[in-house]
Amino acid sequence: MSIIQPHGGTLINRFKKNTLKELPADKIELDSMALSDIDLIANGAYSPLEGFLNQEDYEAVVNGLRLKDGTPWSIPITLPVSAEQAGTLGEKAQLVHNGTLYGVITITDIFKPEKEKEAEKVYLTTDPAHPGVKKLLDRPDHYVGGKIEVFQRPPREHGDQYYLDPVESRAHFQELGWKKVVGFQTRNPVHRAHEYIQKAALETVDGLFLNPLVGETKSDDIPSDVRMKSYRVLLDNYYPKDRVTLAVFNAAMRYAGPREAIFHAIVRKNFGCSHFIVGRDHAGVGNYYGTYDAQKIFSEFDEEELEITPLFFEHSFYCNACEAMASHKTCPHEKENHVILSGTKVRELLRKGEKPPKTFSRPEVVDILIEGMQEQAEVKG
Ligand code: ADX
Repeated sequence: MSIIQPHGGTLINRFKKNTLKELPADKIELDSMALSDIDLIANGAYSPLEGFLNQEDYEAVVNGLRLKDGTPWSIPITLPVSAEQAGTLGEKAQLVHNGTLYGVITITDIFKPEKEKEAEKVYLTTDPAHPGVKKLLDRPDHYVGGKIEVFQRPPREHGDQYYLDPVESRAHFQELGWKKVVGFQTRNPVHRAHEYIQKAALETVDGLFLNPLVGETKSDDIPSDVRMKSYRVLLDNYYPKDRVTLAVFNAAMRYAGPREAIFHAIVRKNFGCSHFIVGRDHAGVGNYYGTYDAQKIFSEFDEEELEITPLFFEHSFYCNACEAMASHKTCPHEKENHVILSGTKVRELLRKGEKPPKTFSRPEVVDILIEGMQEQAEVKG
């Protein structure tokens, strides 16, 4: 059995040496979400996308979870510009961020999206308090579509060893002889429930691709540098060395729940994963999505359309009566026995320097998180 095919059949590569004699006069300023998107388009993580969505693809994605040619795609990858700039753009534009040139876009479409509709369809709410909707509404009002060429990679915030392009992760899995690889997305430290579902999956597959999202997140999520330290210490102490690959996923978090679960799965397929974990309220925030909505959405696709196999997990917890990690599928005891802490509660404890119980999080992980929160508090003064 060979490694899973990329989404759409071909791994895209939009990196190019800048050989242009003359650069386009127009410049589009990338925000941090768009800056991470160009890197992920160029390295093939977003295959089959070769650029920012044109209007037809955008509408097909928003309305029908597919690109115009029918390929599943759930999150619109868009390049917003102001109404003023939209009126003046020519055929090509430089893609810049804070004075650095990153690449060029060949513009095929400039259009004004119906943002309320995008919010309703993609985020299932128009509430501006939803962080993904807020971001959508805050970005400029027109979208520019077209293929991109990328000359320069965004700065790396973590060690080079944690950056793998899909070509590299695929080669790495093949080298290790991994045929069945399970991908794991997270924007949080890995607590016992995450560990439990990862290890449950590891019992039946060859390897785990721990692929934390380190792009833009909402301000109260734990910063990625602290999380990376916590993943390292966890892997070093509790996982067999040769069964896990840790690499960052440099995208911004959308908090789009079910739609983002599909997007996360497709991207991990491009990285070479045959399986993808979807647990409780994947990519959710607040109470916008039902606990298992991000699992239910997979039934809208045929297995051959996605190819990557989702592995669904129930809400897991430590049960004091079982003296083990469990879920309602395996534990008969009353909820008083279950150790369940919300993210808000955990952050509150950590901020006060108090340790969540060992049954919730490994002590080595907790120490890193407390240290990280204290350093953050000192920086903020
Ligand atoms: S997110 O990126 O999906 O927002 P998060 O860290 O909250 O990150 O979750 C990572 C993965 O673990 C998701 O698939 C989520 O559904 C799953 N998950 C988180 N907590 C639990 C839990 N207690 N039980 C089962 N699955 C969980």
